[in-house]
Amino acid sequence: MTEYLLVYRKQTDLLIDWHIRNYPDKQTLAESKIGDDYERTNVWKINPALNSKHPAAFPKELAEKVIRYYSFKGDTVMDPFAGSGTVGAAAAELDRRFVLFELNPAYLELIKKAITSWKNISQSAMLWLNCPPPEPVMQQSYLLEKGYDEYYC
Ligand SMILES: C[S@@+](CC[C@H](N)C(=O)[O-])C[C@H]1O[C@@H](n2cnc3c(N)ncnc32)[C@H](O)[C@@H]1O
Repeated sequence: MTEYLLVYRKQTDLLIDWHIRNYPDKQTLAESKIGDDYERTNVWKINPALNSKHPAAFPKELAEKVIRYYSFKGDTVMDPFAGSGTVGAAAAELDRRFVLFELNPAYLELIKKAITSWKNISQSAMLWLNCPPPEPVMQQSYLLEKGYDEYYC
């Protein structure tokens, strides 16, 4: 099985290295640095994911590699087709924030079940829009704490 990975960025005459070197937060830059074990080829050999609950789940390793190479710690990663939530799990593990969209309520349930086991997740800091959150009370208290008087779900 082969997947193609396309990388887009905003138009610029500068190399990506320039942007990396000039990132204003030097501590985050140092913490986000890729080690010597980076990929030196453009062919990544990654075993497919085995997920009995979602027919097209990505291997987490793929999401991890992309997030590591193309974002800094603390950045926000968006996956508009979240499926089982692989990108969210990888983002959380790598200290990135995430925004996920998923159309199918059954897959949303998968994410809700799995999310408690993702690393670095604060359930009370999670917002669930247009769907009931796993812990409504926690979400409500978070929103009130932040000064929102509207309960979004
Ligand atoms: C290829 S799967 C993604 C699998 C995911 N990368 C994973 O590892 O589980 C695509 C997902 O996009 C969802 N989807 C399709 N159209 C959508 C839309 N308009 N908005 C949100 N999700 C959508 C499908 O329900 C499906 O779960």
